[in-house]
This record gives sequence, structure tokens and C-alpha cells, in this order.
Amino acid sequence: MTLPMAASDVKAAPQSTAPHSTAPRSTAPHPTAPQPTAPQILARCRELVRPALAAAIERLHPWPREMAAFSLGWCEVGGKPGSGAHGKGVRQALTVLCAEAAGSPGESAVAGAVAVELIHTFSLLHDDIMDGDETRRQRETVWKAYGTGPAVLAGDALFALALETLATSQNANSGAAIRKLSEALNNLVHGQAEDLLFEARPWTGPHAVQLHEYRSMADHKTGALLGCAAALGAVLAGAPSSTVTALAQAGQHLGVAFQAVDDLLGMWGDPEVTGKPVHSDLRRRKKTFPVLAALTTNSPAAPRLTALLESPSALDEVTVRHAAELIEEAGGRSATLDEASRHLDIASACLHSVPLAPTAVGEILTLLPFLITRRM
Ligand code: IPE
Ligand code: IPE
Ligand code: MG
Ligand code: MG
Repeated sequence: MTLPMAASDVKAAPQSTAPHSTAPRSTAPHPTAPQPTAPQILARCRELVRPALAAAIERLHPWPREMAAFSLGWCEVGGKPGSGAHGKGVRQALTVLCAEAAGSPGESAVAGAVAVELIHTFSLLHDDIMDGDETRRQRETVWKAYGTGPAVLAGDALFALALETLATSQNANSGAAIRKLSEALNNLVHGQAEDLLFEARPWTGPHAVQLHEYRSMADHKTGALLGCAAALGAVLAGAPSSTVTALAQAGQHLGVAFQAVDDLLGMWGDPEVTGKPVHSDLRRRKKTFPVLAALTTNSPAAPRLTALLESPSALDEVTVRHAAELIEEAGGRSATLDEASRHLDIASACLHSVPLAPTAVGEILTLLPFLITRRM
């Protein structure tokens, strides 16, 4: 297996130990400098983090190392170089951009960015087992390619590596960063527990899952890690607690918006583009936002949808496709986009509530709409 860069190639990232100034240095761009697009911003952050991420993965036992590299798109089963299909790197980008927004170079938060990306990858490996999904990032899921036991182990390895990465970082605020990450992990488990328990809950009646329960679940399973990613950037930059809180809240709301859109892509996305299965949530009777929103409407499509979803037999492809049409007809798709926009508005209000470096905030504000209009 060839990792993109060996540990010895990695330059030590400058660590921020300087006290934080409440007025972040201005990094306003030159008036004629072109504004980077969201894909360019994500790519810049991925490139910044990648050497340290590769160095961390290099420390793993060869077997989980290969599975980790496979899930990151760096190699195929057996270790041959990979196709390059990779995750978007949203969480690592948030960490880097929030450090910059707090007035420090992105390099100061690389250990945090590596840790959140490792935790994200761990959560996906285990999530695909829980959800029984067979494709992710345009390839087989790790459990499908290597087996369930090995995939659990690889997830555990990434979890441990994330904590080790922060714990061994020279940053003066790494203890506070580990506390934030532990809190997010507990919340992620809470959200995944709710997500799984919702599968067995009914669509209608007194025990039906309500939209507010969905929001709490999404806030825990996805908002927590995006909020943590943002917070870690600020914490590792040595920012004051008001800045950390505002950025964490922005990330948390972005996470809920991001999850609602993820639900939407699981229903109407193109698997060639998302790299993930379509309709798998419906087949498992997952309580996703578009369905729950559709069922709260007075549309004549809603009772027809309920009848389909409550059928005791397994939902075949024709039925789930019909269900997706009824969800759209009942307004579930547009309600999901409205929900995502509402959370993005709150996220941008949080970003405007504290003094931050304008260039980095501009880049975060460029990412926000991209993340809810994305096709992957
Ligand atoms: C997928 O996250 C899981 C969710 C929390 C919705 P991403 O869409 O960020 O996954 P990658 O990393 O880009 O593959
Ligand atoms: C995302 O779960 C949250 C975590 C992985 C913790 P989902 O099950 O909704 O995400 P996808 O659609 O599989 O990426
Ligand atoms: Mg899943
Ligand atoms: Mg899941």
C-alpha cells in the first residue's frame, strides 16, 4: 500500500501558543484577488491537512492502516494505489478555517483537523455496518470489502488515533481540544442511538417520530462533530471562549443543515455522484427529514405515503421509488431545503456575532450555501 506521503516527509506544523488577540489580524484579500470557490477552499484545506493525516495513518498496524487508506480513497483492497475518490473534507476544512477566522494560521489547528477527519472516518465505517450500506465514496464500504469484524477494528483504530493525535500535539490548548472532542463523541453516539431506535418507531400515531425529535437526533449525530470541528480550530488558535462558542454554534447548525441535505441526497441524489446508495434509508424505514416533513402536511399524497411505508412487507425498488415521488408531491423535498436554509441563516448569524478575520469568514460563508446545494 502506498500512502500519499510518508511520515518523514511531514514538516512540523507551527503550533500556536501565543495569547490570542481579541481583534484577529486582518487578512482582507487584495481587492482584485479572485474569491476562491467552495471546491477550491475545500481542496486547499485538504492539501494542508493531508501530510499530517497520512503521517497519522502510517502509525497504524498494517491491516487497519490499509482499511483506513482504502476508505480515504488512497488504496484499493490489497494495497494497490487507489482511484482517488475521496470525501469532501468538510470537517477538516472547518477546523482550518475557524483557526484562521480566530486570527491564527491554519497550520496551528492541523492536529485538530486530522483528529476530526479520523473521527468522521471512524463514524462512517461503523455507520455503514449499522445501516447495512454497501457503497460509499464510489467504492465498496469497508465492511463489504474486508468483513464486518475487520471494519469494526479499523474504526476503533481510527478512533484511538484521533485521540492520540490531539494528545501528542504540542499545542498549548490540546487538553481543551480533547475535552471538546470527547463531548462530541458522546453526542455522536447519542445521535446514532436515536437514529437506530427511530427505525422501529411508527410513522403515525402517538409513538410516531416527531420533527423536533429528528432535529435533536441530527444535532447529536452530525451537528456535534461539525460543531466540534469548528470549535477545535478556535481552541487550538487560543481564541477566547466567546469566539469558540460562536464558531461551535455555527458548525452545529451547519451540521443539522448538512444532515437534512444528506437525507435528501439519499432519496433524490445520483449514486454516480454521491458515491452512496439511493433509497437505502427508505428501505430501512429510516426517519429522515423529507419523509417526516411530508407526513406533517395536509397533502393528499401524505396518507398514500403512510400506507406504503406502513406495509409490513419489505419495500422493493418500485415501492421506494413511488414513495420518493409521494414525498416530493407532499412537499418533503422543498421542506428539507427550507430547513437547511433556516439552519444556515442561524450559522451565518453566529459568524457575524463575534469579531473574526474577514477573509476566513468570507471563505466559510462561501462554503455554507455550497454545502446545501451540493450534489455529493
Ligand atoms: C456523510 O458525511 C455523513 C454525514 C454526516 C451526513 P460527508 O458527506 O461529509 O462524507 P464525505 O466525507 O464527504 O464522504
Ligand atoms: C451520518 O449518518 C452520521 C454519522 C456517520 C455518525 P447517516 O447514516 O445519515 O449518513 P450516510 O448517509 O450514511 O453518509
Ligand atoms: Mg449511513
Ligand atoms: Mg446512519
